[in-house]
Amino acid sequence: MDKTALLWVAIAGSVMEIMSKFVITGGKSLRGEVKVSGAKNAVLPIMAASVMADSVCVLHNAPDLMDVRTMAEILRGLGVKVERTGSEGKTLYIDPTNMQGWIVDEMLMRQVRSSIFLMGPLLAKTGKARVSYPGGCDIGQRPIDLHLKGLKALGATFEEAHGHITAEAKDWSGIDIHLDMPSVGATENIMMGATMAEGVTVIRNAAKEPEIVDLQGFLNAMGAKVRGAGTDVIRIEGVESLKGAEHFVMPDRIEVGTFMVSAAITAGEVYVANAIAEHVQAITSKLREVGTTVATLSKGILVTGSQRCKPTDLKTLPYPGFPTDMQPQMMALLSVAEGTSVISETIFESRFKQAEELGRMGAKIRTEGRTAIIKGVPRLSGAIVEASDLRSGASLVLAGLCAEGRTVVSGIRNLDRGYENFESKLASLGAYIKRQN
Ligand code: UD1
Repeated sequence: MDKTALLWVAIAGSVMEIMSKFVITGGKSLRGEVKVSGAKNAVLPIMAASVMADSVCVLHNAPDLMDVRTMAEILRGLGVKVERTGSEGKTLYIDPTNMQGWIVDEMLMRQVRSSIFLMGPLLAKTGKARVSYPGGCDIGQRPIDLHLKGLKALGATFEEAHGHITAEAKDWSGIDIHLDMPSVGATENIMMGATMAEGVTVIRNAAKEPEIVDLQGFLNAMGAKVRGAGTDVIRIEGVESLKGAEHFVMPDRIEVGTFMVSAAITAGEVYVANAIAEHVQAITSKLREVGTTVATLSKGILVTGSQRCKPTDLKTLPYPGFPTDMQPQMMALLSVAEGTSVISETIFESRFKQAEELGRMGAKIRTEGRTAIIKGVPRLSGAIVEASDLRSGASLVLAGLCAEGRTVVSGIRNLDRGYENFESKLASLGAYIKRQN
């Protein structure tokens, strides 16, 4: 096929993707077992870290998501060989040995926020990096000042022009860094960059998310000397070089939480296999509070929903607090609770996009700044709604599963960014859900 034909195929593919929707007929209690995939928020920084290796990296349990594909394209643009292999296509083979690039493609960078993670690894490996401001979910302002401040402390200089940031690392050395807030991305970026800095770096007020522990595991398998991930002080002793490593990506705790809510909202019974109970303690505790039965077993979590849940108040917080990435899904559940609930969103300033769409389905939600007041109704009714970002999309799908009649969720490319085979996993639990192009 010539270049023009290929371009038309790509455009047609994108149009189909934009037009795709989920058609859901609600009212069915979900039952059965579902296996969660590898974590999006773990595999993306790990892919970025792999560019620092001087031989091949192999990542098992790597989910096949839009964001992962975009990150793979970005790496290929830098001269890294990336292939998906393994009998189930869950292994990523990443060979950075011939990488020469240091400029991240602008169009791809706009599609995935995690592309900013490449800045630390590129500076550490090549001494140079050019990025533009990253894209990702539209959930409010998402500055990168903490990433830049940390990398500057390690020795980077920045020049901004034409929407690009060109960074250079002349004297790349370890230092004590105190983060103004425990940003997940900034912690990871600085941690990766510091692995090859001269001397010791200490990150204080670091984020404590499990994905950071997973990243530490991968970096240490590459020969880095990192400890403290999972606490708020991370210590990195710089090394001269990093080798390729093999790693098994941790399960996606937000996917776990989403399937837990799917059982609660449909008064069903779902066994979420591969879940790590410790990672979802805040979710488990909230679900128990509203009357859902949650049993943590050795290799998964069994969730049994009650007919109608009780109301509760919840506040999103950095880990181990209640995750902001589960707030929209909980809003869907609380919209059919027996009473009034209050949600406070403290991480992102604009993360109630689902509220208006849930309103189309009959939910009674009032938002005031970062607070949402949800007056539970006995049932939702199917409607045409739009997923404007990844987790608000999940919230609408969950609402559709319990609503009376038919719900059409458009904008599902946002869901494809972060949920692997979402509709087929739900269908295997008995949901009536179909993708329509
Ligand atoms: C990561 C997750 C995302 C999750 C979020 C919070 C990945 C790929 N994404 O995003 O799913 O919702 O953590 O758990 O892991 N901030 C600044 N300056 C910065 C960086 C962040 O002010 O330089 C602020 C943000 O605006 C936000 C807060 O810090 O208010 C937390 O953001 P952060 O933890 O950095 O989230 P991400 O790493 O972008």
